[in-house]
Amino acid sequence: MVKRIAIIPGDGIGIEVIAEAVKVLEAAEARHGVSLQLTALDWGAEKYLREGVSLPAGALDMLQRDFDAILIGALGDPRVPSNQHAVDILLGIRLGLDLYVNQRPVKLYDARLCPLKDRSEHDVNFVIFRENTEGSYVGMGGCIRPGTSDEVAIQEDVNTGRGVERILIYAFEYARRHGLKKLCMSDKSNAMPFGHGLWQRTFHDVRARYPEIESRHLYVDTLAMELLRDPSQFEVIVTCNMFGDILSDLGAQLVGGLGVTPSANIHPGRTSMFEPVHGSAPNIAGQGIANPMAAILTVAMMLEYLGYAEIAGRIEAAVEGAVRQAQTTRDLGGSLKTSQVGDWVCSRL
Ligand code: NAD
Ligand code: IPM
Ligand code: MN
Repeated sequence: MVKRIAIIPGDGIGIEVIAEAVKVLEAAEARHGVSLQLTALDWGAEKYLREGVSLPAGALDMLQRDFDAILIGALGDPRVPSNQHAVDILLGIRLGLDLYVNQRPVKLYDARLCPLKDRSEHDVNFVIFRENTEGSYVGMGGCIRPGTSDEVAIQEDVNTGRGVERILIYAFEYARRHGLKKLCMSDKSNAMPFGHGLWQRTFHDVRARYPEIESRHLYVDTLAMELLRDPSQFEVIVTCNMFGDILSDLGAQLVGGLGVTPSANIHPGRTSMFEPVHGSAPNIAGQGIANPMAAILTVAMMLEYLGYAEIAGRIEAAVEGAVRQAQTTRDLGGSLKTSQVGDWVCSRL
């Protein structure tokens, strides 16, 4: 069965790293009996500035009907200070396709990349499940008297019983499926008793169904501290949309930075979207020095989702090999260009 993939390189280094991700997809196709149909979509800042179009009309129906998965680079451009096109496209797809699971693995491939003292690869290997359709990302709110000293700005934080329950269940089921024993739910219910009180109550109901999993709760400020003090405590972390965003960048830095962390936006059984955790990095865009590993590992997550676990494992192993043999861009201490890392990984498949 041919898998149909929509490719949205987006902006800045998104374009550079997706070019390498596509090379890897093509290598997988040539050598491993994977059958893919890749379709590039030019959505991003250029199109928005040129035509005023961010997410084209009918895009969500089209994505769901015509594609099995979406691979996206990054969105964000200094020429669009409002970030409107990124909100429309990225959050538009996450919310519009109801991709309620944002899975963000944090895995240390080489101890030398960890900024903490005396940590080995075994100490940093956890996955963050970020609720991806609610919280403060729903775009509810407004401003009155903008630009005056009496300005009022409201950004609502939305938590629903169904939304909280389904991400908690997904995280517990993932732990069960993978034989993981430690799960941590994180919120800020001490300061947000309504919204995050719901997380607390739902967590207590759901955890009772998974007695074999050692589940606990940490407030997010404490979790941030504990992740630095001793990351080996964590296997599965589940949290709300905003905290998951912040913790995933913290996690990235534990394993070498944003150049290496992939992510998946999933609604089980439906067209899902795969993207590196990093953004468009305008500070290094256009120089050919962006690390493509996050995008390449993102391709591995996508292929696994599409049923190609074997080749996904090979891609991950090739990236791990590149890290260990210092075949990297300069953010990881090497001197290769973006495309040379892509070529090296392809040569090892
Ligand atoms: P960023 O992730 O783009 O960059 C943060 C830092 O990490 C920069 O120093 C950058 O050079 C470095 N970095 C990131 N990815 C790298 C890579 N692959 N290789 C080497 N270094 C890398 O975050 P930012 O600077 O806060 O945001 C820039 C733009 O990207 C903003 O418009 C923001 O909204 C957007 N953004 C988009 C996404 C997304 O599309 N998924 C995610 C995060 C940020
Ligand atoms: C991410 C990004 C996005 C988010 C931004 C660009 C809206 O930071 O994917 O981590 O906050 O989700
Ligand atoms: Mn982020």
